[in-house]
Amino acid sequence: MRHPLAHALRWSAVGVLTAGLMCTGLTASAVAAPGSPPDPALSTPGLPPPAPASPPAPASTTADGLALTPPMGFNNWNSTHCRAEFNETMVEGIADLLVAKGLKDAGYRYVNLDDCWALPERDADGRLVPDPVRFPHGIKAVADYVHGKGLKLGIYTSAGTKTCDTAGFPGALGHESSDARQFADWGVDYLKYDNCNNQGQDARQRYTAMRDALRATGRPIVYSICEWGQNRPWEWAPALGQLWRTTGDIGDSWGSMLSILKKNLPLAAYAGPGHWNDPDMLEVGNGGMTDTEYRTHFSMWSMMAAPLLVGSDLRKGSQATFDILGNREVIAVDQDPLGRQGTVVSSSGGRWVVVKPMKDGSRVVALFNETGGAQRIATDASALGLPGTAGYTLRDLWQHRGYNTAGTVAATVPAHGTVLLRVTADRRWAAHPPAVEPGLDGDPLAVAGRTVPLTSTAADLGRTTARQVSVSLSGPEGWTVRAASPRTARALRTGRTLRTSWELSAPPGTPTGSYGLTLRVDYRAPSGVRADSTLPVTATVVVPPPPGESFLSDLPWVSAANGFGPAERDRSNGESAAGDGHPLTVGGTVYAKGLGVHAESELAYYTGGACDRVTADVGVDDEKGGHGTVAFEILADGRRAAGTGVLTNTMPAAPLSADVSGAHVVRLVVTDGGDGIDSDHADWADARLRCRSAS
Ligand code: GLA
Repeated sequence: MRHPLAHALRWSAVGVLTAGLMCTGLTASAVAAPGSPPDPALSTPGLPPPAPASPPAPASTTADGLALTPPMGFNNWNSTHCRAEFNETMVEGIADLLVAKGLKDAGYRYVNLDDCWALPERDADGRLVPDPVRFPHGIKAVADYVHGKGLKLGIYTSAGTKTCDTAGFPGALGHESSDARQFADWGVDYLKYDNCNNQGQDARQRYTAMRDALRATGRPIVYSICEWGQNRPWEWAPALGQLWRTTGDIGDSWGSMLSILKKNLPLAAYAGPGHWNDPDMLEVGNGGMTDTEYRTHFSMWSMMAAPLLVGSDLRKGSQATFDILGNREVIAVDQDPLGRQGTVVSSSGGRWVVVKPMKDGSRVVALFNETGGAQRIATDASALGLPGTAGYTLRDLWQHRGYNTAGTVAATVPAHGTVLLRVTADRRWAAHPPAVEPGLDGDPLAVAGRTVPLTSTAADLGRTTARQVSVSLSGPEGWTVRAASPRTARALRTGRTLRTSWELSAPPGTPTGSYGLTLRVDYRAPSGVRADSTLPVTATVVVPPPPGESFLSDLPWVSAANGFGPAERDRSNGESAAGDGHPLTVGGTVYAKGLGVHAESELAYYTGGACDRVTADVGVDDEKGGHGTVAFEILADGRRAAGTGVLTNTMPAAPLSADVSGAHVVRLVVTDGGDGIDSDHADWADARLRCRSAS
């Protein structure tokens, strides 16, 4: 359920952490948007995805031949908003770069101007006037410039009396014909038509009026409907335009991107050539996410056949940004002429398997890890809807490498990462080396100066035998990594796994935090060709828990995920900034110590096998009046050691006591009580951990 105060800028990452233990196996459950009808595009776990879904929408606009694949290009909004740097120099500079950096050749064609290009007032004849400071030569000159480069020009206005920016630029409501005429005369090729200041008028009528006006110009203009998914546009917009926004605005954060992804995925059946779901423009390169997260963003937008509109200022683009945006193998997924939006095969514990059928009969599968720790995600060729055959070609679209598989498609995916694989039932599979999957039995937690045991695996998923297999694990400078059992095998047949025990230690005095290691498998294909696969591993250096009884709010956690804002120490959640809550209060009782969180939440503590008990008085904080329902759970190395039923805001605090003897990681979990996370402010009041002296 959506939080009533939800807003793009306030979303924070909701993740389930997996510190310490790696989950294998896949319990699948289909995912549908709350309140939406059953989605024919969702498959039943374990069964092949359904046959190609025909769009349930009214006759679409394919006949005009526009946007037969999702539009690609650039739009300034995400990087500039209304700031002065949005001007002719920027726009033409971006056009130059699209050409110079090979992005035009990769498919990026539209250069789109967003809000703030006009003066606030129309001229005496009711015509729109370009801002003479931003666009001293007018819009026609910009159109000529980009056309001269073989690119196309897009423009923006609103289906209201004014546009969305607070400065209030003229909207096209009541001016549809003359504004459309003006755009066509300037040489505009694309219109983004927004929804602000719409005077409460019916959306379909407003968007139809502009469709008719654009048609009347006789110029082919891609029509982008931007009413934020408010009136279920997927049900009527295919008859009007080529794309429609399905959600509110994206922000440059993991939480915002994730939330939009989850809303857009269930709409797969509505997309197709000439009519696309639009989950908003790309944030890749704007700085609010890691490169791993931006690769996930770009991968999943491509899986959803979303428009790919670059939203960062390419004049400041890093090599990583160009590498992501320019990945032609991923772009080919987005631009596949079959035009199918990917659907969810399974989703459980933050492990997503999404499949997109391609025109050549292959399937692209995204193994997407929503959680804050590495997880193994697995599926197989039949679940992806591929025919049975001896072997399949498996192409890694980020690593640009080919392997063969006997049918299993699996990888350990880093936190917030996506592995993108194209699986083909062709006869050429034997030309590739077998896929050998590296794995580890968990993200290592290490106390500096002490040895941690680990087990790595190298599994042959291929149809062919891997030969001269050699596994290595390398740690940061100064760390000790020692194999305690064989790490080589002469031959690894289909389905066989080489297990190796390791001893890892960080030097005494290593500061707490995350450190990168690499697990690598080198081997040879039957032909003798060398191959390898690597797995990045994150080790966390932790401190042992103090002996005796401590307040959990005084101890460092290994990781924390929280539904809104950060988890708080000795305060209630508050929802936004750190420290914005109140004294912890449940059922009128105020507590000096404890943890204030918001469902869905998970706090992980390192207990190192040295602690035996966690106690707390738990309940819904009083700060949200009569609202909020949650359930509490204490997990000891993944085992439920204590928990409550659903608690509501009217209940007093419930005492909770968990035996956590021997556990290395204890997690405090708060779920939503089954009714969505609205107002779910949860307190672990007076939470304590009891330990003996660490061994
Ligand atoms: C709305 C749209 C955004 C952007 C702004 C411009 O918020 O959804 O994409 O165009 O308006 O003001």
